[in-house]
Amino acid sequence: MLFLAEGGINFRADGQFDGVNGIYDSQAFTTTLDFRVMPLRGNPVTPDGRVLRQAVHLSWAEWVQILSPGDPTLSLHIPAGGKMDHAQCGESLQEAFAFFPKHFPERPVRACTCDSWLLDSHFQEYMPPDSNIVRFQREMYLHPVRGRNEGVVGQAFGSPLIDLQSVKANTALQRAVLQYIKNGALWSGGGSVLFPEDMSWGKQVYRSQTLDDIIRPG
Ligand SMILES: CC(C)(COP(=O)(O)OP(=O)(O)OC[C@H]1O[C@@H](n2cnc3c(N)ncnc32)[C@H](O)[C@@H]1OP(=O)(O)O)[C@@H](O)C(=O)NCCC(=O)NCCS
Repeated sequence: MLFLAEGGINFRADGQFDGVNGIYDSQAFTTTLDFRVMPLRGNPVTPDGRVLRQAVHLSWAEWVQILSPGDPTLSLHIPAGGKMDHAQCGESLQEAFAFFPKHFPERPVRACTCDSWLLDSHFQEYMPPDSNIVRFQREMYLHPVRGRNEGVVGQAFGSPLIDLQSVKANTALQRAVLQYIKNGALWSGGGSVLFPEDMSWGKQVYRSQTLDDIIRPG
């Protein structure tokens, strides 16, 4: 299983979109993706949400496209209030993957996707490993998005306009958001994809791939 980035897009050396939050990287690279020539060449996206500079080369025998523009997908939303209990998230997805084929068989669901502030992959470094947000992320194949730092700050503190120097962090998430910014970085949110055939909640199926598997799939 491998995501390839869209071609012709500039990414920073850290694998995030170049220019997001006004940050441009002198070491940025431009992705390539061309299905018309073999071996197909593309820049992989790691399951933890980074686009790699090093391209992979795939022959027809190695390449089966499993998600294409226009395919029916489910768009996941996490409602406010309460907690996103890990087991309940899994049950909810399991139910969704059963419900839609049963009631809408003419539109087979290829994947479940989500774009959100809480899918910024840097939460994995800055939040406790047992946080629901981190555990949810680790079940998904993540990818970068062009989100804004203000969006993440606003979700964490109720407003994007707070004074980051003086605001008090009361929760682990607020501490994470502030620390990352104090370290000189800006949040951009993230995206996730989960394929129904990979639904094995708790197993972190996409994380079992090593970087070597990603660069040399087969
Ligand atoms: C999604 C949501 C339910 C996750 O909450 P959760 O299950 O508590 O998440 P975690 O277990 O990862 O949280 C761990 C810590 O971060 C805190 N936290 C989580 N979401 C927070 C938020 N939006 N603002 C401030 N702190 C938050 C928790 O209170 C907890 O802190 P603590 O350990 O110091 O008590 C919560 O962020 C929320 O209600 N968000 C609004 C809805 C939303 O943004 N949906 C996404 C749109 S797709």
